Amino acid sequence: MATVTRAHPNIALIKYWGKAAGEGNVPATPSLSITLDALTTTTEVSDADTDIFELDGRPVADTKVTECLANLRRRFPVPPLHIRSHNNFPTAAGLASSASGFAALVTAIDAHCDLGMTAQARSDYARQASGSAARSIFGGFVALRGPNWHGEMLAAPADWPLKVVIAIAAAEAKAVSSSEGMKRSAATSPYYPSWVTSTAQDFDVAVTLVANRDFTGLAELAEFSCLKMHGLMLSSRPGLIYWNPTTLACMHRIRELRDSGLPVFFTMDAGPQVKAVCLPKAAPEVAAALADVGGVHEVLVSGLGDGAAPKTKADTKAATQAVNKAAGKSQ
Ligand code: PMV
Repeated sequence: MATVTRAHPNIALIKYWGKAAGEGNVPATPSLSITLDALTTTTEVSDADTDIFELDGRPVADTKVTECLANLRRRFPVPPLHIRSHNNFPTAAGLASSASGFAALVTAIDAHCDLGMTAQARSDYARQASGSAARSIFGGFVALRGPNWHGEMLAAPADWPLKVVIAIAAAEAKAVSSSEGMKRSAATSPYYPSWVTSTAQDFDVAVTLVANRDFTGLAELAEFSCLKMHGLMLSSRPGLIYWNPTTLACMHRIRELRDSGLPVFFTMDAGPQVKAVCLPKAAPEVAAALADVGGVHEVLVSGLGDGAAPKTKADTKAATQAVNKAAGKSQ
């Protein structure tokens, strides 16, 4: 019997970039994110003779997956597994596929092997594989902070149903992985110490802005956090440049829309894609404006989604079909 789970990527509004010293992949700063509903990782786990990991239909040797399994096996009896994972969006292009990927994987193994983990424990294991994955265990607005460094839902999707318009500015995989990039920034950027201190302060303010549903305040602070992270990336040696000209054109367009009165702000991660976060009423106009920017391949519109969860029996069949289709198998 296979177990199928799904998880969604999340987009950080207060960014995480840099790890604390020591074991356990602990972030150097707290972060705050929103979980998206339109982008989905579906992961199917079944028993096997030896571990096999397939991503979008192709067998992949992924050290992070191997380490995640080894880490779980240090604590739980997890047999050899056949893992098949499928993303309905471009992998490793700055759309947080590792976040949804590891949230779905840990949740699938927990359900398949009946490990009885709490959401906090799943978040803890997901974080050890990919920091941002800790947040995708939860839905809506999610905080990731010490001292425990597992995700924590601050507000449910329905509490403040923002929309996110994603402009795909390039479909290829990113040049420098976030883990590599973080190491480089911590080791070489003269701005790194002030990034760490000021992000902790930004996080505290953001928690209050979310509690007050203060869109204007959050817009200003989230753009500040994003631009500050990219300033840190640029000031690393050699500098990390994740944007392309289309990214920059989208940012200017979003600023123009906001200046003309639309409630929208931008955020970008370790890739060129631009995420425009807006109030629901603004989404159609934001989507049309970004689709018109030269170089934009595609525009996706998402609401806020739930945390990682096993599929119910009713939708397991459809999910298995999606994974099979990605693998090129007949149903
Ligand atoms: O946890 P990772 O390796 O996916 O790193 C996430 C880094 C950013 O996406 C750039 C910021 C964030 O907080 O998600």
